[in-house]
Amino acid sequence: MLDSGISRRAVLMGASATAAWLASPARALVQAAAKLAVPSLVDQLIDRMTLEEKAGQLQLMAAAWGGGAALSLNPPGSGSNFEGQVGEARQGSLTGVFNGNGARMARIMQSAAVKESRMKIPLIFAADIIHGHRTIFPVPLAEVGSFEPDLARRTAEAAAFEASGAGIDWTFSPMVDVARDQRWGRGVEGGGEDPLLGRLFAAARVHGFQGANLKANDHLLACIKHFAAYGAGESGLDYNVVDMSHARLREVYLQPYKAGFDAGAMSAMASFNEINGIPSTANHWLMTELLRGEWGFKGFVVSDYTGDEEMIAAGYAKDGRDATKLAFLAGVDMSMQSGLYRKYLPDLVRSGEVPQATLDESVRRVLALKAMLGLFDDPFRRIDEKREAARSMLPKTRSLAREAGRKSIVLLKNDGDLLPLPRSGKRIALIGPFASGAHDLVGPWVVYGDDKKAVDLASGVRAAVANRASVSVTQGSGINEPLAGGIEQAVAAARAADVVVLAIGESFDMSGEAQSRTEIVVPPAQQQLAEAVAATGKPMVVVLKHGRALALEGAVANAPAILATWFLGTETGNAIADVLFGAYSPSARLVASFPWKSGQEPYYYAHKETGRPNPPGDLQPYKAHFRGISNSARYPFGHGLTYGKIAYSDLALSSPTLPMNGRIQVSARIANRGTRAAEEVVQLYLHDRVASVTRPVRELKAFRKIALAPGASEVVRFTLTPTDLGFYGADARPVVEPGTFDVWIAPSAEAEGVHGSFDLLA
Ligand code: NOJ
Repeated sequence: MLDSGISRRAVLMGASATAAWLASPARALVQAAAKLAVPSLVDQLIDRMTLEEKAGQLQLMAAAWGGGAALSLNPPGSGSNFEGQVGEARQGSLTGVFNGNGARMARIMQSAAVKESRMKIPLIFAADIIHGHRTIFPVPLAEVGSFEPDLARRTAEAAAFEASGAGIDWTFSPMVDVARDQRWGRGVEGGGEDPLLGRLFAAARVHGFQGANLKANDHLLACIKHFAAYGAGESGLDYNVVDMSHARLREVYLQPYKAGFDAGAMSAMASFNEINGIPSTANHWLMTELLRGEWGFKGFVVSDYTGDEEMIAAGYAKDGRDATKLAFLAGVDMSMQSGLYRKYLPDLVRSGEVPQATLDESVRRVLALKAMLGLFDDPFRRIDEKREAARSMLPKTRSLAREAGRKSIVLLKNDGDLLPLPRSGKRIALIGPFASGAHDLVGPWVVYGDDKKAVDLASGVRAAVANRASVSVTQGSGINEPLAGGIEQAVAAARAADVVVLAIGESFDMSGEAQSRTEIVVPPAQQQLAEAVAATGKPMVVVLKHGRALALEGAVANAPAILATWFLGTETGNAIADVLFGAYSPSARLVASFPWKSGQEPYYYAHKETGRPNPPGDLQPYKAHFRGISNSARYPFGHGLTYGKIAYSDLALSSPTLPMNGRIQVSARIANRGTRAAEEVVQLYLHDRVASVTRPVRELKAFRKIALAPGASEVVRFTLTPTDLGFYGADARPVVEPGTFDVWIAPSAEAEGVHGSFDLLA
């Protein structure tokens, strides 16, 4: 492992550190899966299948039932009607469908496959269960802000419980793309800008979806997507190209995928983007050498929606046949939606361009997974109309949604302790397009959820206050367009109240797929509403709805209290009311930095330093900053207030030095000097002062969420080993180099908290 080529200072990790670096506690799970013998039935089937039937097992299509959900969520292109699709199942030219319409549809299709097709191979039913099935939980980006991976495990498990009751075997989730450009619309589906959180939440969600036994009819197959680096598209434009060093790819972007596979995820989805000139869908290094070779992945890879065919427009494949060959030989086992695999694979094998053995291997992977899901034992194990209804939106699931909702809300600002509001004695003007109504509640990327079954803000607030009549509701503005007379009504409502709660922000369709924005601001019509309402001088709480970090401006930024509430799902109104009125002290943290201005994007806390940093304070000439704006965040990663008054003190290191095979303890005292109980997310950041490859200004290495009663304090201890200090060197291999490291225990990535340093010894 020694690589003296990196630098003379560089010392590669000792054997134990290397092992720790490469290992993951859940690796055993994958190894267990890897050892799972493919049932002999699978090989018997493969021996008897025609080339067309084999290609059929590698072709997944959007469900065509009554123009079901899939076709409205993805660009049209299926062309087949439901009867036609059932015919395909009968013919054996389909491995399964996605985003279909429940157990009834699944029963009709599955019956055709297992009773009427020649090989009687069961179909697999997939769906985008991204943040809930019928009960909708907070969007993933919000939920990661809870800094509670186990919460994500529980919501994934609850989503699996509902979805698997409705005939679904396989979810296209978790999406674990690190996203550092807030213009990109799909950051909302992922884990934010940080690889450590990305890893922890990827693993947690896989555990939640898959459970301990894939055969269980209350769990689903997980799919790690979008492999790889889909979140790094240039300028935040969806589908755009990625050009990136392998060191950065491994150190940041690949981390969450790897954690998901280590946690046992048995399927992966290829990303739409290219990396360094090669579309992921045709990237042999990515899909075969890295994923299967180096990481030992034993599951199967599906393309994204027409991702194989899109290589023609991207200038990588000549035509559909070429695209099929490139994608398949790179290691993409299954094609989604283009129909290319079933159209071209048989002939590609006949002509010798695709080896028969490679085709058989992909079919074996897919059938082995169908067997692992228990579909050969009982193809109807997840198809039961009664169970579908009985599992839908149970009180315990809704109550989990409320818990997850309130744990996902970030208190950005609370000047003068305006929050929490009293439950009685104040007239409250709820103003804004998101104040009431069954819209924009469940949020983006929801196939089966329903705004009409969700609690809006007005209902949540009215249920929380002592006197419902103390709450007025005024729309004030449309989301993108002003409302005739809206501002006047809003101003009048504000004047008649003691406090304003202004609910503004993005509609659900301003984030998600293909929803990149150039300006990540509150839409102008709503900004005007905010300015007018603020001018009344009434105390104002801004409740933001959004699928990304925003650049706040004017009256919105200047409001004394601001809550980042994202899209919280079914229990939106109740969760926000819990925080507004103090039933819950906010505990979430930003996992995507809020910049001062859109033009700073991509802005992320773990950026590198330039040779001309602007020192703290005023902007200085010829130092790194924008005209008039420092290159910092308005609200950085990790930021979030509570209703307590949290103070950090007494940083202590167990030693000034850390030996290469040793460990060091870092601790700090965290106190709540306020009068309300609070939970604090205590964060540990490191900075490597001098390295053979320049290092980020800070990197999150550990955190703990603690509960503190008023007046209480706790010493929080973290243990670091050299592994935590490692990085990928210039040759994209892991190294640990001796030298001096800064360490902070702090309430955010840009807060000082308490700070010290130590030396890693050679
Ligand atoms: C395209 C999206 O990129 C992907 O995330 C999704 O799973 C598929 N469509 C199927 O809906």
